Amino acid sequence: MQGLFITATDTEIGKTVITGAIAAALKARGINIGVVKPLASGGTLDKENRIVSEDAAFLVKAAGISPDDAVKVNSLCLVPALTPAVAAVQSGVVIDIPQIIADCRQAGRHYDKILVEGVGGICAPLWEDYLVADMISELGLATVIVTKANLGAINHTVLTAAYAKQRGIRVAGVIINNWPEASSGVLEKSTLEYIERLSGMPILGKFPWREGVDVPTGQTEGLATLAEQHLKITELLAVMEERS
Ligand SMILES: Nc1ncnc2c1ncn2[C@@H]1O[C@H](COP(=O)(O)OP(=O)(O)O)[C@@H](O)[C@H]1O
Ligand SMILES: [Mg+2]
Repeated sequence: MQGLFITATDTEIGKTVITGAIAAALKARGINIGVVKPLASGGTLDKENRIVSEDAAFLVKAAGISPDDAVKVNSLCLVPALTPAVAAVQSGVVIDIPQIIADCRQAGRHYDKILVEGVGGICAPLWEDYLVADMISELGLATVIVTKANLGAINHTVLTAAYAKQRGIRVAGVIINNWPEASSGVLEKSTLEYIERLSGMPILGKFPWREGVDVPTGQTEGLATLAEQHLKITELLAVMEERS
C-alpha cells in the first residue's frame, strides 16, 4: 500500500487542511488518490440524523472523490469531542481496530495512493491503550508532522518526531501550517531553524492561512494551487512511492 499518514503536534493544527491540500495537488497531477479519516470524534448530525465527520467531508471534496465511490473514508465517527478511546466509552461503542485497519487497507487497494489523517497527535488513544502511533506502525506508512511556527512549537514538534522515531515510524518531514508569508519574524524563523536542526527532519512546506479555506463549511477552493506553491509535492510523492 502506497500512502502517507498525516499527524500533527496537536488537534486543530491543520491536519485536515494539509491532507486536503496534498490530495488536491496529487489529483490535479492525475494521480488516483484516496483519502481516509479512519476514526473521528466531535462529529455532527446531518439532516437524516446520521453522525458525520466534517474532516472526512472536507477530504472527499478536496480529493474530488465521487460520493458513489464505494470505499469507506471514515470507518467510525463519534459525537463527543474527546479522544476516540474516551468518546467511544462515553457513547457505549467498542472500537474494532482490526476492522478499521482492514478498511484502510481496502482503500489502499482501491486507489493508487492514500492519505490517512490521524486524530489529535501521535499519542492520542484510539481505543484503550492503542495509540495513533500504533495505527501508523500497523499501516506501515511514513508520516508527516503538521505543526505551526508559534511559541511552543519547537518543543511539541521535536518531541513528536523523537517519539515517532523511537517507535520505528518513518518521518518524512515537517509541514508548517499558518506560515505568515509576509510577516515572519524572529519567532517564526528561529522556530523553523530549531525544528530542522533538533529533529533532523526536512521542512516539506510552509503553508499560508487562507480565508477561503475552511474545514467546517467544506471550502476547498484553490487548494491544489496553494499546495503546489507552498508544499514540496514532488518530495511527498517520492516518500509515498517508497514501500516500507
Ligand atoms: N491554512 C489554513 N487556512 C485557513 N484555515 C485553516 C488553515 N489551516 C487550518 N485552518 C482552519 O483551522 C481549523 C483547524 O484546522 P484543521 O485542518 O481542521 O486541524 P486538525 O485537522 O489538525 O484538527 C479548521 O477550522 C480549518 O478550517
Ligand atoms: Mg482534522
